[in-house]
Amino acid sequence: MSQPFLKDTFEEIELLKRQKNAVILAHYYQEPDIQDVADFVGDSLELARAAQRSQADLIVFAGVHFMAEGAKILNPSRKVLLPDLRAGCSLANSCPPEAFAALRARHPDHFVVSYINCSAAIKAQSDVICTSSNAVKIIESIPPERPILFAPDRNLGAWLEKKTGRKMLLWQGACIVHETFSERKIAALQVEHPDAELIAHPECEESLLSKAQFIGSTSALLRYVVESPVNKFIVATEGGILHQMKKGAPKKTLIPAPPNQNCACNECPYMKLNTLEKLRDALRDETPEIKMTEKLRKQAELPLLKMMEWSSQIGKNA
Ligand code: 13P
Ligand code: SF4
Repeated sequence: MSQPFLKDTFEEIELLKRQKNAVILAHYYQEPDIQDVADFVGDSLELARAAQRSQADLIVFAGVHFMAEGAKILNPSRKVLLPDLRAGCSLANSCPPEAFAALRARHPDHFVVSYINCSAAIKAQSDVICTSSNAVKIIESIPPERPILFAPDRNLGAWLEKKTGRKMLLWQGACIVHETFSERKIAALQVEHPDAELIAHPECEESLLSKAQFIGSTSALLRYVVESPVNKFIVATEGGILHQMKKGAPKKTLIPAPPNQNCACNECPYMKLNTLEKLRDALRDETPEIKMTEKLRKQAELPLLKMMEWSSQIGKNA
């Protein structure tokens, strides 16, 4: 049977999706075209849930490696594709499994909480996983007498210490995107736009977070912009989220927080390795595929399932 005439990459993707019973899951930091072609767009927690309940034969994960790995861990019978396998994460890279195992060995009494932005090898060494959406509630669910080791994000960890009053042993990792913002330039913007609220992701540094009017995960920031009576925001997180913010609140003014350098450093270079064309090719060729040993998958699945279980007990937004 001959292929129908295809107008553009969007149509090719739609056709391949139907032919292969595939689903496209995209993170808010993906380029706008990818978000628009996706079946589901969300933050890390929402995407993990979507991957877990998916019945599709193929999951194309438009995000970064640890996210696609998470989808595979939670849904091993499905083929999981990542359009560009090099789409890593500076935060995940900042926590090598051997060094982490050595730290754990020095603190055997600690309950290990790992942020989902880490490799399967780190998840496999953890007691429970959290995302920026549910981290406060996950920490609060741990018995108060139990010391906690938190990895890999030092900024999220420090923010959690403040929110929960729990002192934790923190792995000193960070995200290159969320540590890029210039507080001097943000202060200048606030003088220019005194009616704007500064909103930030908890991966940003403490000195910036202390000046923010609202702090939350990408989904929480999006909800806040749409639902708040305020009309102007300076947004300190990856620029990709602005696409959904503009859709949800078309009349509001959104100012991306400026980076230190004259660069597009508020765009995650790993997330942006995925393109619409690479996504189309991945669907067509069913590669590159996320693979791991069943032993590692099972070890990493336990703390992820614990997060899902605790998180569903905690409530809708956790
Ligand atoms: P969330 O999607 O949980 O807000 O995380 C942001 C992030 O840095 C993803 O890489
Ligand atoms: Fe990793 Fe930061 Fe990119 Fe998120 S934005 S994928 S934490 S480098």
